[in-house]
Amino acid sequence: MRVKHEAPIVITNKNVSNAMIHFNPTTQTFNLVLATSFYAFQVDAQGRLVHLGWGPRPAGAGDADLLSGQVSWERTDTTASFETQTQPDELLTFGDVTFHEVSLKVEFASLPIPLAPGEVAHLPIRDVRLRYTGHEIAMNGQPGLAPSHGLPTAVDSPRETLRVRLRDPVQPFAVTLCYRLTPEHDIIERWCELENEGGAPIRVELLNFAALHLPRGVTELTAVSGAWAREFTTQRERLRPGICLLEHRTLQTGHSNNPFFLLNRPGQAWEEGGIVYFGALAYSGAWRIAFEQLSTLDVRVHPGYSPFEFELMLGAGERHVTPAVVCGVSAEGWGGASRRLHAFTRERVLPRPAEMPRFRPVLYNSWEATWFDVNHAGQAELARRAAAIGVELFCVDDGWFGARRNDRTGLGDWTVSPDAFPDGLRPLADEVHRLGMQFGLWFEPEMINADSELYRQHPDWVLYFPGRPRCEARNQLVLDLGRPEVVAYLHAALDRLVSELGIDFIKWDMNRYASEPGSAAGKAIWRVHVAAVYDIMDRLRRAQPGLAIQSCSGGGGRIDLGILARADQVWVSDNTDAFERMRIQEGFSLAYPARAMEAWVTEAHNTLTDRHSRLNTRFDVAMRGALGIGSNLTQLDAAELAEYAAYIAFYKRIRPVVQEGALYRLERLEEFGASVIEYVARDGREAVYSVVVHEHRVGEFRPAPALRRLIVGGIYGVFDRSGVEIHRATGYELMTQGIPGDAAGGAGHSRTLYLEQV
Ligand code: GLA
Repeated sequence: MRVKHEAPIVITNKNVSNAMIHFNPTTQTFNLVLATSFYAFQVDAQGRLVHLGWGPRPAGAGDADLLSGQVSWERTDTTASFETQTQPDELLTFGDVTFHEVSLKVEFASLPIPLAPGEVAHLPIRDVRLRYTGHEIAMNGQPGLAPSHGLPTAVDSPRETLRVRLRDPVQPFAVTLCYRLTPEHDIIERWCELENEGGAPIRVELLNFAALHLPRGVTELTAVSGAWAREFTTQRERLRPGICLLEHRTLQTGHSNNPFFLLNRPGQAWEEGGIVYFGALAYSGAWRIAFEQLSTLDVRVHPGYSPFEFELMLGAGERHVTPAVVCGVSAEGWGGASRRLHAFTRERVLPRPAEMPRFRPVLYNSWEATWFDVNHAGQAELARRAAAIGVELFCVDDGWFGARRNDRTGLGDWTVSPDAFPDGLRPLADEVHRLGMQFGLWFEPEMINADSELYRQHPDWVLYFPGRPRCEARNQLVLDLGRPEVVAYLHAALDRLVSELGIDFIKWDMNRYASEPGSAAGKAIWRVHVAAVYDIMDRLRRAQPGLAIQSCSGGGGRIDLGILARADQVWVSDNTDAFERMRIQEGFSLAYPARAMEAWVTEAHNTLTDRHSRLNTRFDVAMRGALGIGSNLTQLDAAELAEYAAYIAFYKRIRPVVQEGALYRLERLEEFGASVIEYVARDGREAVYSVVVHEHRVGEFRPAPALRRLIVGGIYGVFDRSGVEIHRATGYELMTQGIPGDAAGGAGHSRTLYLEQV
């Protein structure tokens, strides 16, 4: 007999009283129960793990309301000779009757059983079948590339992880499917662990983090597309039968797509209603999410590593743990999906060490003010002016190191430029600290200019193939983080500067995509690079728990739930035009929280778009996230600086609600040419209302959107930024009538109001 049967191991955590994970041993059925949703699957008669369902729980469902697994939902299919792979396996493998998309494709070099007389091995064997061998419920299971900095998150209560073990009946190959539950946000993190239990290497050709089976008909996809300076453009489309791909094939997350999605039945979900499935990858490298609608109407989502140049060799006894896909379902529309992701990210992803201020500080960044022209006198003057208007974190951007006076030289030489700072950077860092601000510094660690000392010393430290050109982009090449000595050099350079200068904040940039990916790590460079970046960040943070990191890649090229586990905020776009930014921020807000969204007020005339915008518009847009200032403060007169100071003071008042409240997109830009949003505190006693009009059609009155989640019987004062109470109303009135006064405001009209229960 060829098949080795193992007795199932079933281990259940006895310490968890309020179990979220239920297993019915009679029907071999798993029920995962979350606050308002469920997820269920079952071991079938052949030992396959088969998906049963995922969706909102009916209102009033209690602890005992579970799928029994007794009812068979198997379909009788008259077209079975063609559609043989319709069984919704929890992980879809290449082998068996596969011909649709799969989650895992593996090559075995040998056959561990004797051949029958006359049989030929047909090596390599490209067929994986996974059968259930047991499961356990562990506390706090960790996906691949989980942060190793050891810093706490805002909420650290233990979480259950269901680990279901599957094994190939013939080959020495095991896969454990993992489901970590954050029930309060209806979120399941899913990943898988592969293990080579034999002595010969196993080649993995394709690997997703999970397979998601959605109810039939869930075919309306909301996602974002974009480019440099045009990130996060919301797209909504209907999946046709076949495959639709979101992907990026570089060493960062990318600008053209971002790895998250929302899915619903067409026309049956909107901003605040309807069932919406969502998912986001916790990974910052080459990725792909494939959306597949079979001709049977089955809908599957395949989130994982980009298969474009994927290879994973699992040596004897080796394991590989994939990163997670974070997924869930909301019955409260796209807004409900976003709020679940936001709360999850704020509470469970972003690092929150005690050494750090509770809220993200107001930042000043010199890039748009001085470009590469940085020097001690200029930066110190900006710092004094920034401190005077209330800035809390002063960040020096590109141009402070090596021979870097433009983008053609110096990248890689992480020593302070003696031309720009003859006495080093310490005097500036001290001055910034003396002014009561934190000190931040720009780095682009993964890159090198050919015109640099580092490249002259180590021309082989970059990605390249011998005999081929080394293509430059923005005059730079990519360092080979597949070489341990490169990673060691970068870590040492950053670590030394962090401690020597007392750096509180690193802006970590990455300004090109990879080409000619020849690396010491071979094809594994796509994953190894990401792991090395995470590792350097984690080690820096472990050593200096108060250190914050901003993730930037030419604007929003590295934003995802993987980087957010070691970065505190992200630079969403190099486009700082307020109106463009409003659209970009709206797309960003579909998945990511305001707390992490760095947003600057820059000059009235935007050189990128050639548009002028008013100061109120620029502040009203930037105050929707973690406020920053990028204007040249030396060009502003006293009255303008006073106005900046007043806005910053107001922002500090509303910041707790903006950075930790729940977001409601009351009017999306696409509807009436205006964007209206509300942030509301958890207890409903405070809220922030922000309206920015982009387009105004004369004679039309825009709706005054009703506010959300206030206390019905509460009485609220509505305050403008000077603290003047302009309106007083009950929660009931505000949640039925909205706030009057914005209906006919023309293009450029904008305001931010603060509501507080009085
Ligand atoms: C990128 C960043 C900018 C700035 C420049 C510096 O474009 O997105 O904010 O730091 O690099 O070269």
